[in-house]
Amino acid sequence: MSFTTIERLPARLNRSQLFVPGVRPALFEKAALSDADVICLDLEDSVAPADKPQARANIIQALKTVNFGTKSISVRINGLDTQWCYRDVVDIMEQAGERLDLIMIPKAGVAADLYAIDMLMTQIEMAVGRKRQVKLEVIIESVLGLNNIDAIAGASKRLESLHFGSADYAASAGMRTTNIGGPNKDYVVLTEPDAAGKRDTHWSDVWHYATVRMVAAARAHGLRPIDGPFGDYSDAAGFLAQARRSAVMGCEGKWAIHPSQVELANRVFTPPEDELERAHAILKAMKEGTEKGMGAVALNGKLIDLASIRQAEVIVRQMQLIRERTKG
Ligand code: COA
Ligand code: MG
Repeated sequence: MSFTTIERLPARLNRSQLFVPGVRPALFEKAALSDADVICLDLEDSVAPADKPQARANIIQALKTVNFGTKSISVRINGLDTQWCYRDVVDIMEQAGERLDLIMIPKAGVAADLYAIDMLMTQIEMAVGRKRQVKLEVIIESVLGLNNIDAIAGASKRLESLHFGSADYAASAGMRTTNIGGPNKDYVVLTEPDAAGKRDTHWSDVWHYATVRMVAAARAHGLRPIDGPFGDYSDAAGFLAQARRSAVMGCEGKWAIHPSQVELANRVFTPPEDELERAHAILKAMKEGTEKGMGAVALNGKLIDLASIRQAEVIVRQMQLIRERTKG
């Protein structure tokens, strides 16, 4: 371990994050009854410019009246380059009450974006005498944001998570794709011809680099990395494949832009039963091994060592969080 240690933030369950447009209040109650870990009430791109004030009013009303149970509640504000951003922060922070957990900043580009929002939030919290600090989450969805990701990740004590937004990122990078997440038929490699001259096409993950970069920046700052949207909500298999890839790369959860994706995300980001059993078996075997003075032991014909304890503890801790939230 480096002499610089990473301070891990208090954990928050974030397997699925269900987005609800602020202009559709009829969906707020439905979202509250869903199995989503986090609900994100949106003021940004799912709300037309003329409807921004009404969306704010709907969200403030919902935060005061809807029973969201043990879920975490986030509000996605408009970007700092818009005319709506300051009013989003002021109205929501002043009027929404104690139920709000998180504010999500879209299109974060530089560390100062977080400084600016944090400054506003801090003043309002003092002015209204808020008891619980509202935390921040940011979307990395521009080339500027990805370039400055390390500074962004360390920019505010309120920051809890980084999210990768594929659609805006693709637009910002000039990528030739209109998919929101998922593969692209042109992002492939062609194998060398075999003896019969046959060549295979292997599809690659066009979002791989950005996701890995985000995970590294997030984890290096003790934050949660979360995979963003998968637009084709009628393609459950495609969603599952993308979610499994991001889970393997280290993400803790994924957005749901339709309620049908909530169960899929929860399924992928809940440690499978066999992995949990293996984690417990590793901890038991390592405890017995350490008592005998051994740092490395065999379990079912495979090497396990002190690093295995750290891997196993991640899984066990995640399962504890899931049990705590889903019992309420
Ligand atoms: N949250 C909660 N419930 C939702 C929902 C959401 N985001 N989206 C749809 N539902 C409900 C519908 O009301 C419907 O309920 P019912 O069976 O009681 O009638 C059911 O889920 C099925 O919905 P469906 O008819 O398939 O969807 P739709 O045509 O009403 O809406 C979308 C589809 C994509 C427009 C809608 O899901 C949506 O707005 N998603 C979020 C978009 C967003 O916030 N984007 C910004 C982040 S990328
Ligand atoms: Mg976006």
